Amino acid sequence: MLSGCAGTTGAGAASDRELILVAGASGRVGRYVIGHLQQDDRAFRSLTRDEARAVERWGADFAGMNWVEGDVRDAQRMREVMRDVTHVICVVGSRDIKGPNSAEFVDYRGVANLVDAAVDERVEHFVLLTAIGTTDPKHPFNKATKGALEWRFKGEEHLRQSGLSYTIVRPAGLQDRPAGEQAVIIAQGDNWKPFLRSTLSRDDLSLALIESLQNPGARNATFEIANDPKQPANNWRALLTNLSPD
Ligand SMILES: NC(=O)c1ccc[n+]([C@@H]2O[C@H](COP(=O)([O-])OP(=O)(O)OC[C@H]3O[C@@H](n4cnc5c(N)ncnc54)[C@H](OP(=O)(O)O)[C@@H]3O)[C@@H](O)[C@H]2O)c1
Repeated sequence: MLSGCAGTTGAGAASDRELILVAGASGRVGRYVIGHLQQDDRAFRSLTRDEARAVERWGADFAGMNWVEGDVRDAQRMREVMRDVTHVICVVGSRDIKGPNSAEFVDYRGVANLVDAAVDERVEHFVLLTAIGTTDPKHPFNKATKGALEWRFKGEEHLRQSGLSYTIVRPAGLQDRPAGEQAVIIAQGDNWKPFLRSTLSRDDLSLALIESLQNPGARNATFEIANDPKQPANNWRALLTNLSPD
């Protein structure tokens, strides 16, 4: 029996029977994602390895966030968690440089477990958060993390080759500040050097991940995203309509 499947389908829903699985819902990006989904009255399921820890981390308001416990490294559990899901937003990420929960096992093999479960469930669209620079092993973050970006890229490739409808979102360095304070810029091609010192609001990012669930321009596309502190807030959703598919 899965707990936390409840939720009504709000006005912005991508389909009538919409149920969005947010993998990594307890993280610093995930909490913005589920906060917006709840505000918008969307139906969602929040994945964490430890519900009590997640609620302790973000406060009592997060107790009613339709939690379901599971570890992305457990393929069978991901099939259970995926039951009746129509859309996925995956914002899981390893913080460990080595060991059993390092990038290979979370950002690649764990993401692959989620993707494979989504294929079996005939999920309508899968949105994956990765990072700017995944395509270049010489990126300084890849060196600093002993290859985490390369594992991220393998996760991306697994999704691209799955046959699922997808969007891959690669953010600049993440910061906690409210959405809508600065312009959002969108790029493609993973030309990472101009973005080396760029940042992005986790709140802006969460809105872009949610928008990617249903913006036709984001279908089967990969894009980089950052804030431009020199420009005021803009209509960045319109930029997604001009993306080139992979
Ligand atoms: N920080 C940056 O500047 C930056 C820049 C670009 C991209 N990114 C990417 O964005 C990702 C998300 O960022 P964040 O700040 O939200 O990270 P975070 O706060 O560390 O959240 C990571 C999430 O991953 C989940 N997780 C880790 N291992 C798991 C496992 N084995 N099974 C299930 N869930 C697991 C955690 O859930 P539980 O512990 O509750 O299970 C948590 O919800 C990062 O991992 C990174 O790849 C970050």
